[in-house]
Amino acid sequence: MTGRPVPTLEGRSVRLRAPLSTDLPVLFEWYNDPETVAPFDRFSLDSFSEFESGVQKAPDDPQSLAPRFVVERIDGPLTLGFVGYYSSHPVLELVDVWYVLGERAARGKGYGLESVGLLVDYLFHTFEYARVGATCDVENVPSYRLLERLKFVREGTLRQALFHHGAWHDVAVYGVTRREWAEHPRPP
Ligand SMILES: CC(C)(COP(=O)(O)OP(=O)(O)OC[C@H]1O[C@@H](n2cnc3c(N)ncnc32)[C@H](O)[C@@H]1OP(=O)(O)O)[C@@H](O)C(=O)NCCC(=O)NCCS
Repeated sequence: MTGRPVPTLEGRSVRLRAPLSTDLPVLFEWYNDPETVAPFDRFSLDSFSEFESGVQKAPDDPQSLAPRFVVERIDGPLTLGFVGYYSSHPVLELVDVWYVLGERAARGKGYGLESVGLLVDYLFHTFEYARVGATCDVENVPSYRLLERLKFVREGTLRQALFHHGAWHDVAVYGVTRREWAEHPRPP
C-alpha cells in the first residue's frame, strides 16, 4: 500500500483526486470543525502544519488518518469533502474507509454514496484485500445507510468503543467482501 501515486477516480457526478496545497485550508477547517464531523465522531485538533505534513505523508503511511482524496463535483468543480482509508489492525488484514462531506449543503444528494463506491472500487482493484470495512457510531444514520446501500454487512457492535461529546458510544462494524462487492452492481 505504500508509495503509490494517488490516481484520479472519475464517477458520474463526482471525482476523487489527490489533495492539492490549495485545498488544504478548507480541508483543515472541515477536519477540525466539530460541527462538520460531529455529532457522531471525535474530531482532530491538529495544527495546520501537522495537518499539511500528514496529508503529504499519507500515501506512504497505510495507517494514516489524513484525507487521501478530495471529493469534487465534476460539473462544478466544487470541493465537497474528503475521504480516506487506513489499515486498522496490526495483525489482521483490515482496511477501513471513512468519508466526510464538509460542504453540508451537498449532503443527502447521493454524493457520499458515489464517493465511497469509487473508493471501495479503487481499494479492491489496487490491493489484495479480501474485505473492506467501515465503522460508525450506531446512531449515525446517514453513515450506516450509505454503507448498507453499498451492501456492506453489519457484522457486529463494539460496545462503548468511541468517546466523543463527553460520553462513550457504541460503534457498528461493517464490512463487504471482494466477492460481495463484485456480485452487486453499484447504485445508479
Ligand atoms: C455520512 C455522509 C458522508 C453521507 O453522505 P451523503 O451524501 O449525505 O449521503 P447520500 O446522499 O449518499 O445518502 C446515503 C444514504 O444515507 C441516507 N441519508 C443521507 N442523509 C440522511 C439523513 N440526514 N437522515 C437519514 N438518512 C440519510 C440516504 O437516504 C441514503 O440512503 P438510502 O439510499 O437508503 O435512502 C455525510 O452525511 C457526512 O459527511 N456526514 C458527516 C460526517 C460523517 O458522519 N461521516 C461518517 C463517519 S463514520
